[in-house]
Amino acid sequence: MNREFNSHLSRRGLLQASAGLLLTATLPPLPAWAASSNEYRIVAEPGRARLAGPNGPETGVWTYGGTIPGPIVRLRQGEPARLVVENRLDQETTVHWHGIRLPNPMDGVPGLTQPPITPGESFLYEFTPPDAGTFWYHPHANSLEQLGRGLAGAVIVEEREPVAVDRDLLWLLSDWRLTEEGRIASGFGNHMEAAMSGRVGNTVTLNGKVSEAEPFLAGERIRLRLANGSLARIMALRFEGHRPVVIAIDGQPCDPHEPEAGRILLGPAMRVDLMLDLQGEPERRYDVVDDFYDGLSYQVTQLAYDEAAPIRGRVADAALELPRNPLPEPDLGSAERHTLTLQGGMMSTAGMSGLGNMNGMMGGGMMGMGSGAVWAINGQSMTGDGHAGMEPALTFQRGRSIVLELRNETAWWHPMHFHGHSLKVLSRNGKPMPHRQWQDTVLMAPKDAVEVAFVADNPGCWMLHCHVMDHQMSGMMTVLRVV
Ligand code: C2O
Ligand code: CU
Repeated sequence: MNREFNSHLSRRGLLQASAGLLLTATLPPLPAWAASSNEYRIVAEPGRARLAGPNGPETGVWTYGGTIPGPIVRLRQGEPARLVVENRLDQETTVHWHGIRLPNPMDGVPGLTQPPITPGESFLYEFTPPDAGTFWYHPHANSLEQLGRGLAGAVIVEEREPVAVDRDLLWLLSDWRLTEEGRIASGFGNHMEAAMSGRVGNTVTLNGKVSEAEPFLAGERIRLRLANGSLARIMALRFEGHRPVVIAIDGQPCDPHEPEAGRILLGPAMRVDLMLDLQGEPERRYDVVDDFYDGLSYQVTQLAYDEAAPIRGRVADAALELPRNPLPEPDLGSAERHTLTLQGGMMSTAGMSGLGNMNGMMGGGMMGMGSGAVWAINGQSMTGDGHAGMEPALTFQRGRSIVLELRNETAWWHPMHFHGHSLKVLSRNGKPMPHRQWQDTVLMAPKDAVEVAFVADNPGCWMLHCHVMDHQMSGMMTVLRVV
């Protein structure tokens, strides 16, 4: 795999000459967080972290700003942001501001939207976030390894008016594959895993640490922003003894609703904002469990109530609904319709299955697959992280309404992410989606068919890919272009 990454990464240059945005390390220093200016300086650099807590072993990691996760980037809706990213790694990187509808040159896809940031160089990202909500940032170069070694952080775009809650909390959940000595296991890009569920790890951290308990007060109303920063692990969270209400998905407010069967499904890269009323008893502890994988449920943390009496007698009665973001409403009557079919992997519909059959598995039907491609979208496999010369699978006229049908013909789950836009989820397997959900990452179960709609209002070449990093790297990626 590394061989392939390198060949993609070296195919830059095209944009290098034209982009006046590539900065040198001589830029005047900015404070790490200047509260009133929306300005950040984020350094990608190696570091060490105690993922298992103060008594655990130290793990060599790659960080933003020396911490796992990276600093929370707090921006304000509708106000210009300036984010300088400095690369102190020994390989090229970029930053993708996942879910933020920003101008194409700020999207962080090496080769496609910007030259990669070479070691020692910096890049200035400038954009004005149109939407308030919970987003995150991560590399889009050598993504599997860079994200897998720790490069990730949250972006919170604040509403213009504060939301009435007692506390606003973020849980960035990450999955790590650690060795017994606490090292990050090597073997990124294992072909067998890439054709199956991807690199699922063995250690889940909450804001960079394995969590035994998180402190709460009885009676509190919490806005809890959940984000799954894992390479491949899908989560289904249950809050024992509580009834969380989903108020936003992927940063976009939805109709407040309780999750189906009380389980909050969170694929890699997805975010869910909850309103959580702490109606449990003082001094008690309540499990938060992830039971997505059959027989492999585990405790993510516990809600640990302080012994103090409830801070209010009954549930806060402020409205649960967040103000809507200014998303353009697609016109379904005049919309263009297209289908994107997800193909490949082990046990694909071609009837191939079993281990040791990788090379033959995809034989025939697939076109345009590079070496190592095991997945495809509409018969084409784009591998790696994005690079110059990717032919768009579809081109849309700016302003058109588009309906995409995503069909998962594979035997695996895929969180499908589209850059630069938010997608209104219309239906799943023929059933209309309730709760007015807009998402940038749509989790597809095996054989699912999902219809999404959007207005192609953001010009440029935009990636659409699976956010299981192994899947993206090995072909489940394409480019959609808006002209
Ligand atoms: Cu969060 Cu193209 O990715
Ligand atoms: Cu996938």
